[in-house]
Amino acid sequence: MLTRRTHTCGALRAADAGTEVVVQGWAGAVRDRGGVTFVVLRDRSGEIQVTADERSPEATRDAIKAVRLEGVVQVRGRVAVRAGAANDRMATGEIEVIATEVEILSTTRPLPFSPNEHAEANEDTRLRYRYLDLRRPALQKNLVVRHKAAQAVRRVLDAQGFLEIETPILTKATPEGARDYLVPSRVHAGSWYALPQSPQLFKQILMVAGMDRYFQICRCFRDEDLRLDRQPEFTQIDIEMSFPTREMVMEVSETVVRAMFQDVLGLQVGPIGTMSWDEAMERYGVDAPDLRFGMELVRLDAIVAASTFGPVRGALDAGGVVKGFCVPSGGHATRKQLDAWALFVKAYGLGGILWGRLGADGLTGPASKVLDDVSGVVQALGAVDGDLIVLAAGDRAQVDPGLGRLRVAVARELGMVPEGTYAFVWIVDFPAFDKDPETGRLAAMHHPFTSPRPEHVEWLGSGRELDIRADAYDLVCNGMELGGGSIRIHREDVQRRMFDALGIDEATQRDRFGFLLDALAYGAPPHGGIAFGFDRAVMVLTGATSIRDVIAFPKTTSAQCRMTDAPSAVPAADLAVLHVRNVAGA
Ligand code: AMO
Repeated sequence: MLTRRTHTCGALRAADAGTEVVVQGWAGAVRDRGGVTFVVLRDRSGEIQVTADERSPEATRDAIKAVRLEGVVQVRGRVAVRAGAANDRMATGEIEVIATEVEILSTTRPLPFSPNEHAEANEDTRLRYRYLDLRRPALQKNLVVRHKAAQAVRRVLDAQGFLEIETPILTKATPEGARDYLVPSRVHAGSWYALPQSPQLFKQILMVAGMDRYFQICRCFRDEDLRLDRQPEFTQIDIEMSFPTREMVMEVSETVVRAMFQDVLGLQVGPIGTMSWDEAMERYGVDAPDLRFGMELVRLDAIVAASTFGPVRGALDAGGVVKGFCVPSGGHATRKQLDAWALFVKAYGLGGILWGRLGADGLTGPASKVLDDVSGVVQALGAVDGDLIVLAAGDRAQVDPGLGRLRVAVARELGMVPEGTYAFVWIVDFPAFDKDPETGRLAAMHHPFTSPRPEHVEWLGSGRELDIRADAYDLVCNGMELGGGSIRIHREDVQRRMFDALGIDEATQRDRFGFLLDALAYGAPPHGGIAFGFDRAVMVLTGATSIRDVIAFPKTTSAQCRMTDAPSAVPAADLAVLHVRNVAGA
């Protein structure tokens, strides 16, 4: 019979010796040693050894023999200090519970895999039986961290006057650069809701409504290619405030980060520096630089200006660039590694890498044969004996990401990324627009509601759009974009000019964003905000390498839920009610 438990499994200590307890949990290990049976009972709080021996009633010694791995068991017993040595690997290792009653509350089918921490199962199987997977202490810890981080966010924002307000899930498309998930309306034939890519427009309208300071820990939906740090539905800490300067939003954001790090890790996050987007691209090749290690990219155009080596000459003549970096003590890299790195940059449209090892004989390797001013390049890269230098030539749009991402991949591969450190940086002064290389059309780099820097507003519609800098900011930690935000356009006329610059015609502006333009026309306060990727923040806090390890029920990289089998087929009749017909395979 189910009895009220007196303690959770992980709560008991030597001081409890002699106490009668009732504990409940899963059998994590079962061992029968002749007349003595041990069961390690586990719940969310930890584990405790239950022992049935000559101190237990005969019936209990029989009953415990029926316990199977991962069965659910209730034990009544007395806490005793272990006769033998304490088990240092268990927080409760000094004691055990001598069972007086054992009841199996629930049995289990043969397990597809053991939730035992050390047992490996492929991820597909783990996701299919997610309830077993989530019994693993590592994943339980991640969800505990997630909970603590969410509480820290609520506490610190509440203390600063932010109101938690929910916004609709069934809504109209908001452009954040991905495809929308659409939901057909039954009542309005042929009309569709979109799931929000973010609450962007609602939070702006809440500022127009005078709510002053808003936040929400909310779900966002984006149909985009998935990666280790991307999910089709993910969670944001979404923030908006009225009458802010960029610095004010950054300050509030830092209180959020500090609270999460303090509450979860007990770590103080110091002041966070800023770096312009231009500088990040120049020195690291990417807009989310990992500052935990050096190996900065160095521009070498001037030094190799006279080069006759084909790829370098070709790049320079075409207006491209030559950049390189030095891998400290990287001279040991094998031919196989170097070939793999050359292949790596090809994915970014580069022809390959030019490398050289610096040793007693000076520079050796392909770079030494084709560079005229070898010592100039070596000096510019700051290379010394034992180092490796890596160069690439090409269009800047290929060299920057190619070398920038290679820098990180090489550092990881060679173990040069320090563990347990957190390198934060704000990236500011983004270009407002970038140009689609194929269509030549301008696209908003952040989103179309981001304000240009005040001194650049006048350039909207002037043909100088690519020079406009946005009043936008991204918070980066260890090379991952944790959050991004901006000061918004709060004037209807400026918002229209922004849409015009993006080539969104009048009718489309009205149709898609009429409600925003209307709201801006009724007394909109200056406002701005930010959204953090909450899942990504929890990844940083837990050290998880996959976003799936910090979400209770994540999707696979092909956007499926293995456990429920979503998405799945729907009977034609159900579709008909929604005025939808399946044409797949038709
Ligand atoms: P943005 O699109 O930059 O900005 O998103 C904010 C943060 O959300 C996280 N993120 C994701 N996390 C997991 N999976 C995804 N598919 C995913 N996409 C984004 C990132 C990112 O920094 N409305 C604006 C915010 C604003 O301007 O206030 C927005 O959504 O960590």
